[in-house]
Parts: sequence; structure tokens; C-alpha cells
Amino acid sequence: MGYAELHHQSLVDRDTYWAEQARRIDWHTPFTRVCNHDNPPFTRWFEGGTTNLCHNAVDRHVATRGEQNALVWVSTEVGIEKAYSFRELQAEVMTMAAILQAQGVQQGDRVLIYMPMIPEAVFAMLACTRIGAIHSVVFGGFASVSLAQRIEDAQPTLVVSADAGSRSGKVVAYKPLLDEALRLSAHKVPKVLLVDRGLAPMPRTEGRDVDYAPLREQHQGAQVPVVWLESTAISYTIYTSGTTGRPKGVQRDTGGYAVALAASMEQIFLGKPGETYFSTSDIGWVVGHSYIVYGPLIHGMATILYEGLPTRGLNGEPDPAIWWRLVEKYKVTAMFSAPTAVRVLKKQDPAALKQHDLSSLRALFLAGEPLDEPTGRWIADALGVPIIDNYWQTESGWPILTIANGVERKESRFGSPGIPMPGYDVKLLDEQTGEALTQPNQKGVLVIEGPLPPGFMQTVWRDDARFVNTYWKSVPGKMVYSTFDWGIRDADGYYFILGRTDDVINVAGHRLGTREIEESLSSHAAVAEVAVVGVADTLKGQVAMAFVVLKDPGLAATPAGALALEGELMKVVDTQLGAVARPARVRFVTALPKTRSGKTLRRVIQALCEGRDAGDLSTVEDPGAVQQIRELFSAG
Ligand code: PRX
Repeated sequence: MGYAELHHQSLVDRDTYWAEQARRIDWHTPFTRVCNHDNPPFTRWFEGGTTNLCHNAVDRHVATRGEQNALVWVSTEVGIEKAYSFRELQAEVMTMAAILQAQGVQQGDRVLIYMPMIPEAVFAMLACTRIGAIHSVVFGGFASVSLAQRIEDAQPTLVVSADAGSRSGKVVAYKPLLDEALRLSAHKVPKVLLVDRGLAPMPRTEGRDVDYAPLREQHQGAQVPVVWLESTAISYTIYTSGTTGRPKGVQRDTGGYAVALAASMEQIFLGKPGETYFSTSDIGWVVGHSYIVYGPLIHGMATILYEGLPTRGLNGEPDPAIWWRLVEKYKVTAMFSAPTAVRVLKKQDPAALKQHDLSSLRALFLAGEPLDEPTGRWIADALGVPIIDNYWQTESGWPILTIANGVERKESRFGSPGIPMPGYDVKLLDEQTGEALTQPNQKGVLVIEGPLPPGFMQTVWRDDARFVNTYWKSVPGKMVYSTFDWGIRDADGYYFILGRTDDVINVAGHRLGTREIEESLSSHAAVAEVAVVGVADTLKGQVAMAFVVLKDPGLAATPAGALALEGELMKVVDTQLGAVARPARVRFVTALPKTRSGKTLRRVIQALCEGRDAGDLSTVEDPGAVQQIRELFSAG
């Protein structure tokens, strides 16, 4: 079957298509219904079936490839390279599962994982899904306020953490951030399991904090059976930013997710069991969940867990070819990264890439932010393999738009992630009228008609109303899922993504909410008002730019005063949200551009920052506010 036909079947004969895909995983009891869409916009996949993510990722491979690599940990931060076979991984996961159970974790409980990129983080994720606990991994780059919000929402029984992460050889202590988050959170966490890497001092709280190493000794060899879960049982939640200051817990199921990932590994990522997959993402992001941990392992592939920069070697020496060294060494066949990482590499000598034998590599997959043509062309030339852009979201869990070369080879087009994947009924709608745009090259909101495919979020954790109101009510008169991205489709059906319709920004492939940054800055006593916008950046794609109105403008009257205050405000964001959210600049103004009704015109500010035409300014209440920003930016 050609791709167009397959995609058509996935929409018009949904049950046949997905029942066929469901054969890719092990079911303990077979499902009785493929897709239940009786209560839109909610979708339930493979009802009646029971399965388990950990079983499909680990146990089922032990018999056939038990001695093959499953997890390869490479840390250029601490100079360690260590491989676990499927059999060893299974043993570690069972040990971790026994520890979790002994600490009181039960099926349905939440376990929050706040960890650097170390194998124990993966053991913890798999141990949770093994026993039916719901994991919620929080990116290690987030700080105490971000973490506290997530703890409060997830209400975990246990937190798994470590003494520290490391970035560019610099130790980042996690425990003080975690302790502060635990103090801030209204939900009191009963137990904290700590991995001591010996990188930073780690104060323990008596009765609450327990150490992993002695417990691992104690539970080594434990046999913890897989718990067979309903296909629709929650496997995990992962928090993501939207337009409010409160992150949303994206909730995923078990069976649908396993099936979608299994299909994507072959159809999209061109992987084969027994080969090695390398995703440079972090377990704190959705790419890490789907394509460091679950996808490759479900498909019987070894996966590389990489802690470090793309430009440092195992002994801490500069090495712009470290990733390619790993590709050669482990015969990586599929690699997944983000355009930002490629832009970092682009500053290095391209000869670095040529030193290594990259003949195992079939393709490089890039996602998370727009892939600009110069970056795409540079890496395509340097590697000599196809570069496959793919567009998706935390919410979707796997690609929405890309090219399914595993089904049928099709050319990629620079600037376009591609075409809709199986199960995705993608449309472009007029934002005002909700009409479907049918002509080529019309700009509209990219939406998905229900039922959403397997693997997609089920709902917002404990907040069905928020799921419906946020995602399904943004286009007038239509109950469709909004991606909050602008897009166009060319005459051949290729889509192009033109940026967000909301206040979400994308910094170096990291999704951030401007409201969260604004709320953090507002917590400083000197701040009266603040607006944060995303501004185009040649390296990071976008950076956050903050505009602050002070209660006492005199504080920033001198250049030295302004600079000191700017530093202070950046520090506030660093300690509350984490350095990832730190604005590139904080500029002081006496007023923000607003409408007469008091709405801050972020889009006008953004246009001014980027030196673009700000459009119709007749709605701006105070033209002086526009002038101030214009002057700041023309002065550089
Ligand atoms: O705006 C789109 C952008 O990143 C958003 C999703 O970010 P996140 O939830 O972190 O998930 C990333 C999963 C890969 C999207 O709404 N985005 C993601 N991929 C692309 C992209 N924009 C353009 N091209 C892409 N390939």
C-alpha cells in the first residue's frame, strides 16, 4: 500500500488500520474495541485490552535479545560510558520497582522524577510503568517554583532525585532546589528517594529522604512481576506550558501510546530491532519520553542516554565530533536532535564530522522548532544522509507532520516538516470564521479533527474541563483540537509551520510560557508591570525579552542602576523557574503598549523587537510606549 492510501485508510477505516498496528506490541488480554469516541472530544483506545509499557520495552526482548545492549549511558560530564543489556536493564528496573513498592508506592500513585540524565532516571520511569504507578518527569533544568507547581499538581507519593546534575563540567546541585520546592508546595511528599552521585553535598531530611545505593543492595535480585494494566490506564503525565501561568499536566494512556510509538519507530524513524537509536534530547521533555526511553526500547533497539554538551569529549576535552564518535562506535542507525543543536555544531569545523564513519546512519531527525533552510542544508551536506524534519507537540507524543519514509520514500522539502501522519486528520482553519482553508498557501490555524490518534494526550491531568476549554474551543463553531500553531499547505500537500498563535515561545527547542516568566519577574518588589515576548534569535530560534515598568522608575535611571536591577531580575527567574527561562534582556520602560481596554499588545512589542512592521497601531492607547521600545531597539 502506498502512503497516501495508508493515510486515507487510517482515517476512513480507523479500526482496521489501528487493529493492524496494535499487533506490533504484546497484549496480555486482547482488546475488544479499537476506538471509542462516544464521548467526544475524549478518545479511548483499545478498550478491554490489558498490556504494560515496561513489559513491551524490556521484558519481551529478554528472551530474544537478552544480552544485546538496551541502554547505553554516555556522560561526557563525569567521563563514564556504561552499557546495560536488556537482561541487566530488566534486573535494574525490578530492583527499582521493589524499592518504590517498599517505600509505599502503589498502582495509580504518582512518582515525580527530578533527575539528571543518568540511568537511574530511566530505571525509575520503567519501574513506575511496570507497577502501574504514574510517573511525572520534571526537566532537571527547572528550579524550585516550577518544580513546586508540578509537585502540587501531581501530588506524588514519592519523588526520585539526585544530588546534582552537571553542565559543561559545572555541578548543578539539585537537592537545595528540590528542598525549596518541597517547602513551597502545599502537598507534602511522604518520601524522597535520592541517588548520590558524589557531585554535591546532599542534606537529608530524617524520615522522608532515603538513599538509593543501600536500598539497591538490599533489593538486588528482586522479582517484581509486571502489572497488567487497562489499555486506557494512565502511564504518565508531563507538564507543558500554555497561555496561563499554570502548566498543564498532559496525560497519556498505556496501550495507545505503546502502539503509536511502535508504529512510528518503523514507519517514520526507520529503525530495526537490534540496532542503536540516539536521541540527544532530555528525559524531561516529551522527545525524551517517546524517543529516548519508550519508542526505541519497545522496538527492541538500544538507546543512547547522553549527558553532556555536543562539543565536549569523554575526558572533558573540547570535541565537536563527540556525537559522531558515538554514531560510529555504536553503529547508530537513527539519530534525533533539534535544530538548535545543529546550529551550535555549525559553528564548529565541519571537518569534525568527516573524521568518523557514519555509514550506519540512515537519517537524522530534527524536531521541536522550525528548521531553517541554511541549517538543514548545512547538516545534510555535512552528514550525507537525509534530514527529516518532524513537527509535533508534548500533547501529541509522536509526530503529527513528517515524512513516513518507512512506508514509502518521499522527498522532503526544506522548510516543511512534511505531511500528516497516519491517524491525523489535519486541517487549516480560518481563525476568525472557522472555515476550512482549501486553497494552497492560505495561512490558518493548524487543527486536528477528532478522534485523536493513539498516543495523543487523553486529557489534562485531573482537569477534563481544562482539556476541553483549552484545546477544543478556540475556533468558533467547531469542535476541533487546536495546535496553536499557524500553518500553510502548498499545492502538493506539504505543510509549513509559521509560529504559535498563543503566547508560548520556543527557546533552543524548549517550550516556555511567557506568562510564567512574567509572573516570576512580577514577584520582585520593584516591578509594577511586565511583558515578556519571544524574539527571533539566530542560534536559539527565539529568546525571551522582558519589558518592565518599575514602581519607582528612578531605580533604573542610571545605566549602572539599570544593569544591576536587570541582573537581579534575571536571578529571580533563575532561582524560581531555572536558567532555561531566563530572559536574554530585561529592558525598563515607563509604559507598555496597550489597547484602550488595557490588554498588553505583546505582538506589537515582538514586531518592534524584531524590527518588523508592527501593523495597525491605532488601537494603542499610549503611542509613547511604542516609541520607547522602538528607540531601545534602534539603539541596539
Ligand atoms: O510550535 C511548534 C513547535 O514546538 C511546539 C511543541 O513543542 P513541545 O511541546 O516542546 O514539543 C516538541 C516535540 C517535538 C509546536 O507547537 N515545533 C515542534 N516541532 C516543530 C515545531 N515548529 C516547527 N517545526 C517543527 N518541526
